[in-house]
Amino acid sequence: MAVEMSSYVTHVNTALSEYLPKRTGYFETIYDAMHYSLEAGGKRIRPILMQLCYEAVGGKESIDAYLCAIEMIHTYSLVHDDLPAMDNDDYRRGKLTNHKVFGEAIAILAGDGLLTEAFHMMLQDVLTHGGQERVHAACILASASGVEGMIGGQVLDMQSENKVIDKDTLDIIHLNKTGALIAAATKMGAVLAGGSAREISLLEAYGKYIGKVFQIVDDILDATSTMEELGKPIGSDMENHKNTYLSFYSVEECYKIAEELTTKAIGLLNQIEGDTHLLEQIAMQLIKRRN
Ligand code: IPE
Ligand code: IPE
Ligand code: MG
Ligand code: MG
Ligand code: MG
Repeated sequence: MAVEMSSYVTHVNTALSEYLPKRTGYFETIYDAMHYSLEAGGKRIRPILMQLCYEAVGGKESIDAYLCAIEMIHTYSLVHDDLPAMDNDDYRRGKLTNHKVFGEAIAILAGDGLLTEAFHMMLQDVLTHGGQERVHAACILASASGVEGMIGGQVLDMQSENKVIDKDTLDIIHLNKTGALIAAATKMGAVLAGGSAREISLLEAYGKYIGKVFQIVDDILDATSTMEELGKPIGSDMENHKNTYLSFYSVEECYKIAEELTTKAIGLLNQIEGDTHLLEQIAMQLIKRRN
């Protein structure tokens, strides 16, 4: 990752340790379980996208509460996604999954904790700073991570196991289970910076395109990468009889579709006046990513 981008990863990690400090006492175990998955690594792509969109539209203040919130919600979705009742995976971010270390009950509660604390953080921030933009941003995240977003997508993903579905249904699954949070990240950045309706909708659309690319590449890597490189098990989709992009297209066709989507995403960035060169770099890196 380029130096310029790695400073954004550091920024997000520092914000996470400030907003969710370590605790001892009665609730130590749940904090340990939440920190375990949060600190296991992860690319931090969603908060980075949010920060970059915020800056592209001219934002200058701290939006750390929102950066942390989206990463915590994403991490909770991974903890629950790995549970035996869902994808039943043993490794995540290069480490044993949460339930393998803390047991299923604590893993479920750690996911619940990450989700709830995320909203606590944003509401606390709104109480401190006020501002319609901040309320709007929290509302976007609530909707994108909810039933008409990530949760709905995860439900369709589970219900489509062992089934023949059509491409439109697969697109709905991808758009929601993965695309919703990524598009929320880009839209929230624009909203928090007080962007115009046009800037908000261009950046949201950019997020939708790269969100789709993100899941297409995730599907490819599940079939073609290695556990060492990816940090999570390979062949999980096949084992669970999931519908993925590879159920419909060859790897070459998938990459061709992903390239077309990336070109469209970059075309949208070109219509924004602010500096979008890092957003462009991310779009290009996502298609080539190996983990
Ligand atoms: C994995 O997301 C789950 C999907 C939505 C495809 P990431 O690939 O962003 O996972 P981390 O955060 O880097 O571990
Ligand atoms: C999960 O998709 C998307 C989430 C909302 C967590 P996957 O099940 O394909 O994600 P991985 O491959 O386990 O990271
Ligand atoms: Mg899954
Ligand atoms: Mg999974
Ligand atoms: Mg996957």
